[in-house]
Amino acid sequence: MTDRDPAPTTRPMQPAHAETPKDAETPNDEAFHVEYAARVYRLPPYMFGRINALLYQKRRAGADVIDLGMGNPSDPPPDYVIEKLAEAARDPRNHGYTQSNGILNLRREVASKYFRRYGVRLDPEEEVMVCLGSKEGFSHLCLALMGPGDTAIVPAPFFPVHMYAVALAAGNVIALEVADSEKFLRNIAYTCQHLYPKPKLLILNYPHNPSTATVEPEFYTEIVRLAKRYQLMVISDFAYADVAFDGYQPPSFLAAKGARDVGVEFTTMSKGYNMAGWRVGFCAGNAEMIRGLGTIKGYYDYGMFRAIQIAAILALRHGEAQIEAQSKIYQNRRDVLVNGLRRSGWDVEPPRAGMFVWAPIPEPWRSQMTTMDFAMMLLDKGDVAVSPGSGFGPAGEGFVRMALVENENRLRQAVRQIARCLKNAGGNAETNTV
Ligand SMILES: Cc1ncc(COP(=O)(O)O)c(C=O)c1O
Repeated sequence: MTDRDPAPTTRPMQPAHAETPKDAETPNDEAFHVEYAARVYRLPPYMFGRINALLYQKRRAGADVIDLGMGNPSDPPPDYVIEKLAEAARDPRNHGYTQSNGILNLRREVASKYFRRYGVRLDPEEEVMVCLGSKEGFSHLCLALMGPGDTAIVPAPFFPVHMYAVALAAGNVIALEVADSEKFLRNIAYTCQHLYPKPKLLILNYPHNPSTATVEPEFYTEIVRLAKRYQLMVISDFAYADVAFDGYQPPSFLAAKGARDVGVEFTTMSKGYNMAGWRVGFCAGNAEMIRGLGTIKGYYDYGMFRAIQIAAILALRHGEAQIEAQSKIYQNRRDVLVNGLRRSGWDVEPPRAGMFVWAPIPEPWRSQMTTMDFAMMLLDKGDVAVSPGSGFGPAGEGFVRMALVENENRLRQAVRQIARCLKNAGGNAETNTV
């Protein structure tokens, strides 16, 4: 993706008073063309479109498709959070516009969670901002930081917004593979040494979606060192901070010494708190970067419904036990899916965090078909929807991503259907093994 993509053709605008006798004769049925801005043409076709169309068609025809495509949590938030939302919604004072950076008490609660969990002290006035979901905050921060000629390093394979928010901001992207964190660090250094102009922004995402790669705290120490050395701003997307297994605690970038000098971190209530539809996310860290985000947000939005913010305070304050229990649910689902697939002959690695299994396509299909065709086959013949890895860029080719969003029984059923589908397609996976 470069900033040299062709601009769309433009058509001159007519002044409003241009109704000459000739204009008045223009027939009403003349074709009218909507012309998008150049930035829209920089976006690639939606990679999950084919899968979604078939999923929709099958469901309309009555098929019971098990959808492991999207990381959309299927469990509700706790009752006390929903009750607080209802109570706050009944208060007539909560229905006006709020500040776009979020109410102070919610920002304070985010700061306390950072201190409780990671020992990081944040100033809630300057170093925390509330976003309408972390995706909104991330996209608008890219708009605040990036412009034509600027380059961002993004993880490969990539969660689409990591790539396209930069592209929408007219920036360029270099995607570096994240699977091996040592190699990733070396490649960041190499890119900074050799690219001119130097990259301006580094986007990180651990636990990583889609590959499920994780890191240890020392990784971030090294990131801060590189960022200072090469004047590289850092955005850490920490969406899966609260979903981890087997005692692993994903480290926060902000806990690294000096992190706040060079970057910010996004967290969300979508995943661990089961509040994806509520759209509550946070940006924390470098005050200057947060001010830039605030400037953009001040023009674009009027803040989040106050009742949601009040309920979010309660969820954050009392949510530790709930997010731990939710992680356990994902861990059990992970075990059902991974063990089931392994028993059926498909060797996949268990992730130690996040909501996904990232599975290399087994032979003989890996060398016979594209990732997209493999995913279409599982959907068409097995009634199981998964995300083709190629939807996350070329580095995802050869993999599919399965989201742990169905309960254990449905996952067992999914394994049976996948095994049957692969067996019928000529592979060596066995049926009825789970
Ligand atoms: C890596 C990553 N970042 C951000 C998001 C979006 O989070 P939010 O719901 O807070 O916008 C997701 C959601 O799937 C994600 O996987």
